[in-house]
Amino acid sequence: MSGAWWKRGVLYQIYPRSFQDSDGDGVGDLKGIERRLDALVDLGVDALWISPIYPSPMADFGYDVANYCAVDPRFGTLADFDALLAAAHARNLKVLLDFVPNHSSSQHPWFLESRASRESARRDWYIWRDPAPNGRPPNNWISDFGGSAWEWDEASGQYYLHAFLKEQPDLNWRNPAVRSAMYDVLRFWFARGVDGFRIDVLWHLIKAADLPDNPVNPRYRPEMGEAHRVLQAYSTDQPEVHGIAGEMRRIADSFGERVLIGEIYLPLGRLMHYYGRETAGVHLPFNFQLIDAPWSARGLARLIAEYEAALPEGAWPNWVLGNHDRPRVAARLGQAQARVAAMLLLTLRGTPTLYYGDELGLGHVDIPPDRVQDPRELREPGLGLGRDPVRTPMPWDTTANAGFTSGEPWLPLNADWAERNVETMARDAGSPLVLHRRLLELRRAHSALATGAIAIVESDGDVLAYARGTGDERLVVALNLGDTPQTFTLPHWARAARPLLSTLADPPPPAADRVALRPNEGMVLATPTAA
Ligand code: GLC
Repeated sequence: MSGAWWKRGVLYQIYPRSFQDSDGDGVGDLKGIERRLDALVDLGVDALWISPIYPSPMADFGYDVANYCAVDPRFGTLADFDALLAAAHARNLKVLLDFVPNHSSSQHPWFLESRASRESARRDWYIWRDPAPNGRPPNNWISDFGGSAWEWDEASGQYYLHAFLKEQPDLNWRNPAVRSAMYDVLRFWFARGVDGFRIDVLWHLIKAADLPDNPVNPRYRPEMGEAHRVLQAYSTDQPEVHGIAGEMRRIADSFGERVLIGEIYLPLGRLMHYYGRETAGVHLPFNFQLIDAPWSARGLARLIAEYEAALPEGAWPNWVLGNHDRPRVAARLGQAQARVAAMLLLTLRGTPTLYYGDELGLGHVDIPPDRVQDPRELREPGLGLGRDPVRTPMPWDTTANAGFTSGEPWLPLNADWAERNVETMARDAGSPLVLHRRLLELRRAHSALATGAIAIVESDGDVLAYARGTGDERLVVALNLGDTPQTFTLPHWARAARPLLSTLADPPPPAADRVALRPNEGMVLATPTAA
């Protein structure tokens, strides 16, 4: 399996509402994505993961699914999906969908039936409990979006559990009928040719059987969001979840070379369990550490070394810089360091996931209060937890609305879209887009980058350097994480290394024993042993 596509390849996340609109309603759709496939080929990625496209009331913009085996009319039809899949495959692009197993929409027929009465055949498909003796919710669990995780249902006189919005009731994964219905969903899409799934909040699926109170978080501060008031000791990451991941893995493997990627926000030690015993869990538990990493050479070197050391035998690493829930990398680090971060992401050992728009250096987009859409922001305003600023339309060119839509875009575009768009940036050798293309080209051309081993060679001050090697090819990646010039001496085996690519537009100096890095410069160098 060392050559599996999901190990060598680079993933690209598309937020479908914001990629390309084809019918003028201001919301992206499947036909739009199909129209832009060539742009993804030009960029050089290998696989797309598309955030949810299923019928949904859109309380959480598609993460509230009302039918797992269909396409929301806003995004198109099942036939549009089949056409997109065929067009992607014709270009050697794989397609991953988003599987949302923890909760459905409150409008899903399963929940409507479950809610109808206590005697309903599907009552036990969701998590219903009587009130506590004082009439209050059954325990102290808090929704990730703030407020109690329990919603009172007057008609049937019980509470139901929702880890997110009340419009997203949690399914009861202890019920075998739920499992088998959800496994059929995986089979439905795999049989259509889908290459894999990103699994939404995988670590949430199973709750402790008797639903005990969660412990109070001694480090809680209100600006963290109310969910952090308690530690999710009993509401998430229960041992039985690994059996479920294993069952999903068996289904995926029965369809050939497919991939499962788990969305899991947990400390390293617990995250690693999601690879499963003898890697019988998901193929890739998302590694989000770079999103919150301290941006220092020592900090990153330690993080990389600890992650590599923690990987179970046979497990394949992966790295992420951003997604539809977290602040943009360019907003976190600034434009100059975002280029260095791109080199890091695309030269570390493991499958990288690139978030749409990061290749353009999209930064924080201000959303005027009257245009806020995200329920996360609307429920706990002003804490900076809102996700609209990272979900804005993809700017393609200099025509109206940056070519995203002929209508009114559902969220505002980045203010600098007239320059920061694909068409303009493709013509500018110094743009982040061209840098991403070069990095992806380099990764494709050098197996050492795609699958080679990694060893840290320097992590002092602002310089982080590591070697990547396979067979007789060895490359060195040297990153200046600061804004002052730095030099570092190459290890003896790498003397007279030849620069292959710099994050800065002007050509790097020729071969040397000491590498001089300009402010905010990253460089990939070929060592003399390189082919
Ligand atoms: C995941 C998604 C996020 C969504 C939540 C609830 O964290 O990435 O966007 O709101 O799950 O489904």
